[in-house]
Amino acid sequence: MDDRPALEHVRLTVNGATFERDVEPRRHLGDFLRHDLNLTGTHIGCEHGVCGACTVIVNGAPVRSCLMFAGQANGASILTVEGLASADGELHPVQQAFWNRHGLQCGFCTPGMIMTVVALLAERPEADEGEVRDAISGNLCRCTGYETIVDAALDAARASREDT
Ligand code: FES
Ligand code: FES
Repeated sequence: MDDRPALEHVRLTVNGATFERDVEPRRHLGDFLRHDLNLTGTHIGCEHGVCGACTVIVNGAPVRSCLMFAGQANGASILTVEGLASADGELHPVQQAFWNRHGLQCGFCTPGMIMTVVALLAERPEADEGEVRDAISGNLCRCTGYETIVDAALDAARASREDT
């Protein structure tokens, strides 16, 4: 007898493209993105909601993709780090600011950091240092000491304000 749980049919939008897949109910969104859609830019660290490496934007809000089942994302619009740069390769202002400020070393935390900052600045382009530090307080970085990440986020905030 096959006692595996029935698959769930999921239809969602990722970085502007629509995908449909049948997934196991226990498949979390991070593994779904990485293994079913081959979007490996989203990193998986702790897999229990602590490190923030797996952060993606779901319907405009930052979400830890290890804590959300793929089935729960049915119908959602998701943005991952692969969806930030323009088609011609121009970096998103937050990516460019991380590049300029050396806001990464090994890069493991970087996609989650960037998605967290993108979500913050979409809501609060005027975010100050305290708000930036608060926003990234759930994202762990083993390398940078955070200072250059904060500098990058503040640069990106300035750039987005100047653009508007
Ligand atoms: Fe999701 Fe660490 S892998 S919070
Ligand atoms: Fe290595 Fe953040 S750059 S964990």
